[in-house]
Amino acid sequence: MPHGDDFLKRHSSVVKKNGKKTCEKCHLESGCTSCHARHIHPGLKRERLEELRRGAGLD
Ligand code: HEC
Ligand code: HEC
Repeated sequence: MPHGDDFLKRHSSVVKKNGKKTCEKCHLESGCTSCHARHIHPGLKRERLEELRRGAGLD
């Protein structure tokens, strides 16, 4: 695994700091988007989920 255990929790700030270009060396953008959009994330506030759906172009 190239990422540490707590990476998922930190990844959004890593992307904000370094940009997603660095991720695209390994990840397809569609992989990011499908996780953001398809899953229901327990513990995410409704507004946050809507923000993510908007960001992914679903709403
Ligand atoms: C060197 C290649 C590489 C780079 C660069 C990379 N990743 Fe990954 N990433 C991986 C691999 C390999 C996995 C594991 C895939 C799997 O388990 O299916 C992974 C898994 C993940 C996961 C799932 C983690 C989990 O706990 O389920 C997320 C989220 C993620 N990466 C986000 C990012 C983000 C955001 C960036 C850019 C800041 C990034 N990655 C950069 C290779 C990379
Ligand atoms: C395993 C599921 C999963 C994967 C894969 C994933 N994310 Fe996320 N992402 C989340 C969750 C959950 C949140 C909301 C919680 C948070 O901000 O940490 C989020 C939030 C974000 C945010 C903040 C969005 C905002 O509007 O503030 C960014 C940026 C982001 N992800 C980028 C990426 C990128 C780039 C990738 C692909 C390299 C990726 N994510 C892959 C689950 C994932």
